[in-house]
Amino acid sequence: MTAAQKTAFIEALRWYQEQGVTDALADAPQDATAWLNTPIGAPARSTLPAKNTGSPAPTLTPAVSHENQQPAFLGVAEARAEAVRLAAAAQTLEDLKSALENFEGFSIKKTATNLVFADGDPSADIMLVGEAPGADEDRLGRPFVGISGQLLDKILKTIGLDRHAQEHEARIYISNILNWRPPGNRNPAPAEIELALPFIERHIQIAAPKLLLFCGGVSAKALLNAEQGISRLRGRWHPYTPRTSELAGLSSGPIPALAVYHPSYLLRTPAQKKHAWSDMLEIQRKIKGL
Ligand code: URA
Repeated sequence: MTAAQKTAFIEALRWYQEQGVTDALADAPQDATAWLNTPIGAPARSTLPAKNTGSPAPTLTPAVSHENQQPAFLGVAEARAEAVRLAAAAQTLEDLKSALENFEGFSIKKTATNLVFADGDPSADIMLVGEAPGADEDRLGRPFVGISGQLLDKILKTIGLDRHAQEHEARIYISNILNWRPPGNRNPAPAEIELALPFIERHIQIAAPKLLLFCGGVSAKALLNAEQGISRLRGRWHPYTPRTSELAGLSSGPIPALAVYHPSYLLRTPAQKKHAWSDMLEIQRKIKGL
């Protein structure tokens, strides 16, 4: 390859990246159902290329059948029941992480590189729940490490919060509604959010923070079971209790939750940063009263 060709390739790649094209598609057609025949115990990652073609409906989910080692196919309701069962059975964050790693109900697991479970200190007083990992988070296996994560860190620092602070009071714990990256950074599908809910709700129960921050509309609407958008929900405290009825008995009481704008929205709409600032002051006021 000549130097000019190399430069042209690099320019083309840069252009694709700027346009948000982060997943490769193959030229040849692929059998999109091939993964259904993957033997139990085989690695979950598919050889299929990632596709960014709208919201998938997880209608068929292979589950382990221990008798004959063949996939037993589950429908949406069964996958949801399995998610609830696994989440409720987890007693520790390690249990929950391995339950998520082994749960085959999320089709996005097949296109993701790493499980993005959490970052920061699980014993922190404050837990923030975002939406879903992006490309950087998928690559590194940690939430909010890309460009929006950098803004989030800056915003949190304005009131002295830092996921890796020396002092315990300054620490924060961070996770997401979805722990696998939706391909091409598409929005999480409603069916994926429903399936993820038992896991994130159990995650909150086990971490047991004193305060919750729901970062962005997807997180706030899902966890507060709200119809309103983030601009209606933000700026006030909501009593959070798990929606998953099977988990209700495992919670000690409502946790105050503040809905805040997502940093990627603030990157697109910098004029809204004034609201992020007033939300941070509100959090600071609440922390002082803990
Ligand atoms: N956006 C999110 O909501 N979560 C991440 O981890 C990264 C970007």
